[in-house]
Amino acid sequence: MIEAVNLTKVYHIPDKDPGVRGAVKALFRPRHTSKTAVKDVSFAIEPGEIVGYIGVNGAGKSTTIKMLTGILVPTGGQVRVLGRDPHRERVANARDIGVVFGQRSQLWWDLALRESLTMVGRIYEVDDARFQRLISEFSETLELKELLPIPIRNMSLGQKMRAELAATLIHEPRIVYLDEPTIGLDLLVKERIRAFIKRINQEKGTTVVLTTHDLGDIEELCRRVLIIDNGVLIYDGSLETIKQRFGKYREITFETAADLNGLDVPTGADVLEKGGRTLSLRFDRTQTSASRVSASIMSQIEVIDLSLKEPDLSMVVKQIYQGGLKETA
Ligand SMILES: Nc1ncnc2c1ncn2[C@@H]1O[C@H](COP(=O)(O)OP(=O)(O)OP(=O)(O)O)[C@@H](O)[C@H]1O
Ligand SMILES: [Mg+2]
Repeated sequence: MIEAVNLTKVYHIPDKDPGVRGAVKALFRPRHTSKTAVKDVSFAIEPGEIVGYIGVNGAGKSTTIKMLTGILVPTGGQVRVLGRDPHRERVANARDIGVVFGQRSQLWWDLALRESLTMVGRIYEVDDARFQRLISEFSETLELKELLPIPIRNMSLGQKMRAELAATLIHEPRIVYLDEPTIGLDLLVKERIRAFIKRINQEKGTTVVLTTHDLGDIEELCRRVLIIDNGVLIYDGSLETIKQRFGKYREITFETAADLNGLDVPTGADVLEKGGRTLSLRFDRTQTSASRVSASIMSQIEVIDLSLKEPDLSMVVKQIYQGGLKETA
């Protein structure tokens, strides 16, 4: 459905000395600094997938999305979306895709949502019956009913994002690109938006490419993730695999009946934190196990309570962002 081959984008940023002299000089002898935002990125996305595209700020996510949607022309490499060049065949491509940039609104500020949606519907030549069906569908799934008479300008961030999603999906595109759709939203709205994305994917088979800094989005929606680091794709695979590969440390915390003085730390574990009567240990589960670590502690001291923490995705991703894909964890 989407294919990128050695996709590369170099931005040329003009260097200019300050002031009029600088401007004149730049006119005759323009100088540029180049920034390679995306470098030799290749991947293929199948119909019906939800793929998470993650990386730190400035890694090149939005730049990639802009090339996939045809907004930007790649400096090198190729993109094919449904067999087309998304930039050269912009009009045809536009019918099949929808895009949401969470940081920017695409709607008309002064129009009530209903009018905005009507405009978008007309632009995409959505026929009346289908339009009505979608409006009532979105009224339910995105809880838009009360928002229809309200101008976008008067909406809260969460309301705006729901409106934005409706406008993006009113022509039922086969692919949607969502660039940080949950940015700045509260937990309930995030949940609603995630449920909505899941639903269009399951019910309509919509293919979704999602960039986000919210790992909850990823965890709930994506089986596959792409990780981009400094313009280079460093991982393309299942979420499960990175979790296993990088999540080999576990944390276990004991609450004890007596002071911890003189306690021997079990082999294969390190002390993370030691308080008066609490002890947190970290262990490598390929070398030891929770039961061996706790048995060792319990043989030394009376344990009142213990808890085991599963490595969460944020811990894993932090390690990857910090250390590249080297075996750090
Ligand atoms: N129009 C532009 N002109 C010059 N440089 C740009 C332009 N747009 C982006 N860049 C640079 O390209 C790099 C990648 O930017 P991009 O917006 O793709 O990152 P991102 O992964 O989307 O980051 P974020 O998570 O902050 O949204 C950054 O170093 C950025 O400064
Ligand atoms: Mg971005």
